[in-house]
Amino acid sequence: MKRVFKSIIVFIIIVLLSLCGVNIISGNGGEERNSKINNILILVNRKNGLDKSYIPMDLTIPEIPFSDEATNEEKQVAGIIKEPLEELINEAKKEGIILIGNSAYRSYESQEIIYNNRVRDEGKKSADAYVAKPGFSEHQTGLCIDITNKYRYFAEGTEEAEWLEKNCSRFGFIIRYPKNKKRITGIEYEPWHIRYVGKDVAKYIYDNGITLEEYLEK
Ligand code: DAL
Ligand code: ZN
Repeated sequence: MKRVFKSIIVFIIIVLLSLCGVNIISGNGGEERNSKINNILILVNRKNGLDKSYIPMDLTIPEIPFSDEATNEEKQVAGIIKEPLEELINEAKKEGIILIGNSAYRSYESQEIIYNNRVRDEGKKSADAYVAKPGFSEHQTGLCIDITNKYRYFAEGTEEAEWLEKNCSRFGFIIRYPKNKKRITGIEYEPWHIRYVGKDVAKYIYDNGITLEEYLEK
């Protein structure tokens, strides 16, 4: 009986959210769910969320250097991005640029802790500018990773950030939250957060200076 009650409540919440234009991709079976989640172009943003129970099926730890701060959970990525990510990090190294993994997959619960800590430390406005609410973070898909450098200072103008911006599309990644696109992505410029979309789409997005949202709307 309790379970029936819980399902009714969840159903009502999903209906209310969709009336507000928010979509939640469920973690509970179903062909539509699987085709969306297996889609490397899955859109996760303020209006498109993932169910709390969603965990990528093929999480794996890539062979790249990680910062000491990265937890074992955060070292994992969706299987599909393992090789492209390793290729990117290796090519950067060949070109004299050392890139370090900082945070890739994050569970709903981890994102909740990160978001709440940020609100506590910096206030809600700052938290919302840089950290997605739990269930609305791309990190829960395992398709993205935050990169850092040896100074743990990955900002605009550093050689690592410049290299990543210019070259990540060669490996199928995009800078997911570009400068001056907060109006569209809902998030401030994050030169460190790269998202896998595949080489063709990454090239199109890079060449045209657009966001994933704009690409998917075209
Ligand atoms: N920093 C990105 C937006 C996240 O928290 O998912
Ligand atoms: Zn990120």
